[in-house]
Amino acid sequence: MELATARLVLREYTTSDFAAVHAFASDPRTLEFVDWGPDSDRDTRDFLEFCRARAGEVPRTNRTLAITLDGEVIGSIGLTVMARAGRNGGREAEIGYTLRPDRWGKGYATEAAVALVDFGLSQLHLARITATCRPENTASAGVLQKIGMRQVGLLKNDRLIRGGWMDSLVFAIDAEATSPHPSSGPAEKGPAPARRTRQ
Ligand SMILES: CC(C)(COP(=O)(O)OP(=O)(O)OC[C@H]1O[C@@H](n2cnc3c(N)ncnc32)[C@H](O)[C@@H]1OP(=O)(O)O)[C@@H](O)C(=O)NCCC(=O)NCCS
Repeated sequence: MELATARLVLREYTTSDFAAVHAFASDPRTLEFVDWGPDSDRDTRDFLEFCRARAGEVPRTNRTLAITLDGEVIGSIGLTVMARAGRNGGREAEIGYTLRPDRWGKGYATEAAVALVDFGLSQLHLARITATCRPENTASAGVLQKIGMRQVGLLKNDRLIRGGWMDSLVFAIDAEATSPHPSSGPAEKGPAPARRTRQ
């Protein structure tokens, strides 16, 4: 699948993305508030294989896509549909994202997340999308607020991150709380038969 925004293209990973992905997945600056990494070469290869395998699944429950700018991979974003159904059988999913540090602060994560959330609500008809971030991760909390998610909870001591337990803010957006947009979501190109949600 592929989603286009004003500046970005979100697309499936290929094995040739190894160097670009490994650069940010092994960079301590991107890992301060996440419970994965720093990735070894093997971890990055496994991640790309994970994405490739999930892309071929039917039904697809994990969409982890490369965020590209002018053809260059600048980050990663994922939407994972949960196995359990929510209220009234509605399907729910979790979103997460990572951007390489030299591209922070330019609105790219917000732009990518808007597209994937819109896709999830309008094309996958998800009832709810959730996300978590550490309270200290003001950039991520800023992204989630800007895309219309609301903080619905706080999980104390939720993630073991480099030897210390950190809290998580829980954010959510419900389909019923958004204005209806039957087919206005970003178009998915190609076959549309969804790890790590890297956050
Ligand atoms: C979180 C992350 C993806 C944000 O990406 P980004 O492209 O820089 O975010 P945006 O530019 O879209 O910023 C959106 C909002 O977040 C806030 N924000 C961004 N960077 C910020 C910073 N350094 N300090 C405080 N607020 C910040 C702002 O409110 C901003 O809105 P504004 O542009 O109107 O000021 C990026 O910092 C990152 O990859 N971090 C490492 C991985 C990670 O923590 N992932 C999320 C795990 S929960």
